[in-house]
Amino acid sequence: MSCAGALTLVGSALAGNGGLLPVAPSSPNASRITDAYIFILIFTGVIFVGVEGALLAFVIRYRRGKRARTVEGPQIHGSTKLEVLWTVVPAVILAVIGGFIFYKLPGITNPPAASAADETTITVEGRQFYWLFRYPNGAISVGTMVAPANEVVHEDVVSPDNDVVHSWWVPAFGGKIDAIPGRTNHTWFEAPAGSYSGRCSDLCGIQHAEMTAIVRVVSPAAYARFITTRAQAASGTALGYEEYQHVCATCHRLDTQYVGPSLGKDPLLTDRKNLETILRQGIGTMPAVGSDWSDAQIAALVAYTKTLIGGAHGSTG
Ligand code: CUA
Repeated sequence: MSCAGALTLVGSALAGNGGLLPVAPSSPNASRITDAYIFILIFTGVIFVGVEGALLAFVIRYRRGKRARTVEGPQIHGSTKLEVLWTVVPAVILAVIGGFIFYKLPGITNPPAASAADETTITVEGRQFYWLFRYPNGAISVGTMVAPANEVVHEDVVSPDNDVVHSWWVPAFGGKIDAIPGRTNHTWFEAPAGSYSGRCSDLCGIQHAEMTAIVRVVSPAAYARFITTRAQAASGTALGYEEYQHVCATCHRLDTQYVGPSLGKDPLLTDRKNLETILRQGIGTMPAVGSDWSDAQIAALVAYTKTLIGGAHGSTG
């Protein structure tokens, strides 16, 4: 009876993924994490139904009913068979789960072997409150990572010394990995073309919830084009737009007070010198979001913010 119950549970979990399973895996390491999740879910499901079922059965079968409160139940002392069973069975269950996890673990931690042509390394930098991505040719993007499809993408996950701990998490790619100041953590994925959402999963400050990112996995040719174009236009409005959307607009709106003051009427947006000072040093409660930005990164932002002040304010940000 308990087995049938657990099977129903697992069956419905697999069928609808109504919040019972992790999001559909899109990388081999994520698949293995999902396998481990389902494997453990089967055991815990059977145990849950067994324990709760026994509890209900005992509550009903041995309820007091019409007996007087003072009647004592039978006094039972020891049952070697039962005691051996409830020691051995959990030990076996733990050994089976442990064995399965150790079998799956290397494929979660270690990326598959790939030729140099079929792999790339992207640095993922977590900062209050945005994600910055650095590509092998020096190109930079903010808030949106572009990556080649069906290739091993190594991720070096970092956070600058003056920042706090964040956690890089793209659920479709499996586990979370911390972005810790002064340390480089490694993870990887190998995904088909598509768009995957990621987020910060460590409470890192007031706008933690807004610290989201998109991973756009495209054909290797499109990826190569993207990083080449981006490196050539290192100070262009394409990067500036991303910086405004994911760095500034996380706390500021143009026309209203948000977490920080409104920016629409602020001459700062066209004043490179003063804007740079604030980006590099922070001001009041605003963190130094651009403490180590290159001149090109600052120039890109100013190139974009100038277009904001020149044109309609609209609903940007
Ligand atoms: Cu960064 Cu939460």
